[in-house]
Amino acid sequence: MTPPHTASGGNPASSAWELLLPAASAPARARGRSLQAALREAVRSGRLAPGTRLPSSRDLAADLKVSRGLVTEAYEQLTAEGYLRSGRGAGTWVGDAVRAARPRAHDLAPRSPGARADFVPGTPDLSLFPRSAWAAAHRAVLEDLPHRELGYPDPRGLPRLRTALAELLARRRGVVADPERIVVVSGVAQATTLLGFVLHARGLRTVGVEDPGSPQHSALYASAGLTAVPVPVDGEGLATEPLRASGVRAVVATPAHQFPTGIAYSARRRAELLDWARSVDGIVLEDDYDGDFRYDRAPVGALQGLDPEHVAYTGSVSKSLAPGLRLGWLLVPRSWAEEVVERKRTMDLGHPSLDQALFARFLERGDYDRQLRRCQRAYRERRDALVAALGTHFPGTEVSGIAAGLHAIASLPQRYGPQERFLARVAEAGVAVRPLADYAHADAAHDGGADGGRGGGTDTRVRLVLGYAHVPPARIHENVRLMAEAVTG
Ligand SMILES: Cc1ncc(COP(=O)(O)O)c(C=O)c1O
Repeated sequence: MTPPHTASGGNPASSAWELLLPAASAPARARGRSLQAALREAVRSGRLAPGTRLPSSRDLAADLKVSRGLVTEAYEQLTAEGYLRSGRGAGTWVGDAVRAARPRAHDLAPRSPGARADFVPGTPDLSLFPRSAWAAAHRAVLEDLPHRELGYPDPRGLPRLRTALAELLARRRGVVADPERIVVVSGVAQATTLLGFVLHARGLRTVGVEDPGSPQHSALYASAGLTAVPVPVDGEGLATEPLRASGVRAVVATPAHQFPTGIAYSARRRAELLDWARSVDGIVLEDDYDGDFRYDRAPVGALQGLDPEHVAYTGSVSKSLAPGLRLGWLLVPRSWAEEVVERKRTMDLGHPSLDQALFARFLERGDYDRQLRRCQRAYRERRDALVAALGTHFPGTEVSGIAAGLHAIASLPQRYGPQERFLARVAEAGVAVRPLADYAHADAAHDGGADGGRGGGTDTRVRLVLGYAHVPPARIHENVRLMAEAVTG
């Protein structure tokens, strides 16, 4: 889809609205919700720039071939949520503060520079990046690296790095790690795309994704020509009945700390998921995006360790060092290795050698373990600060998903609802937060798992996904206080 180009204050050509907001293609009863979700997404992603004037409800309804009432309702709802603003006489515009206060839909979004307080998940504390150790490793590698290692690298990665990674993943994550089947990639994102291309080449056109889940999974698979099929997540993990019924043969999962609900998949569900993979001759892509951080629960080993022939395992340094390094790993089953490596070769001829040699040295000398220990201590303290601050400023809040990772789920007592009003008020106060509902797939065919993040039925509780790793403990308290002031003051 080519989105219409919108200069700030401009107006996409009317014929382009259909592309931007494909509401009429949704089943009649889901049309209103689908229109609202598409509008929200267009604003958040920046495809509709702040200040863009929207067509009148009559014109947009005609363009989209939906009833005018649906458009009016969508405009009202999004105005209440702070995405749109409406002028006194007539006219509706994309709000100016939206992107500052409520950033883009996916967790890889840049931070929100205009926000006074920011709990958007996805980024570690970049000030914890070990600059001097990194600089020392850089210097040493430049001095030692043989000339030949500056040539085109093995598309799988430098043998030295793959060996060090195999040791790390076996030791820390219980992965069955054969260096021959590790591919060094530029992050989980590239691992997902690579696997997507191979699935496509094998004739697959659909892939299961967790719902609620990370929007980036669907987007990355879409870039490989695969349609994401949302599969509900319940209290134990991906629900295997709907997974079977979906007909997919590949699914992406975050078993160690489900994104975003924060649950760890139960042992039973892990076994069921592997049974499913074997029965359809399929594959699970295990995204171990924050598996390194665990606070007060026993280690949960990687799913891959239970069945390395049906699980591809991926992780990166995006949470432990910095996402800007673009460095990660993909460990593939034997029967997938050749095709995946060939894709990596045709994609970029291999990962930059200098970065690989540097990271290999960093691993070998124990610098990476030190970094993980340092981050673990810092993030545990921040998690505790968040739980305490919520207890003080939002008494009665249930906080879940806190045993691991870099974010928590806060379910506020009913009295803080409804969620739309809460979000509008905190956005106005300059606090960037993401509701759990933002991670639910708008076009899911099923009725949602656990709570699916939708807060369905009569439960209109506010449920937030609060990223805390990038916020110093003192700020955490202050930010939660700001949020409380915004909704109670
Ligand atoms: C679910 C999930 N997977 C993966 C990543 C990291 O992707 P990458 O390794 O490409 O930076 C993130 C980052 O926020 C994430 O939330």
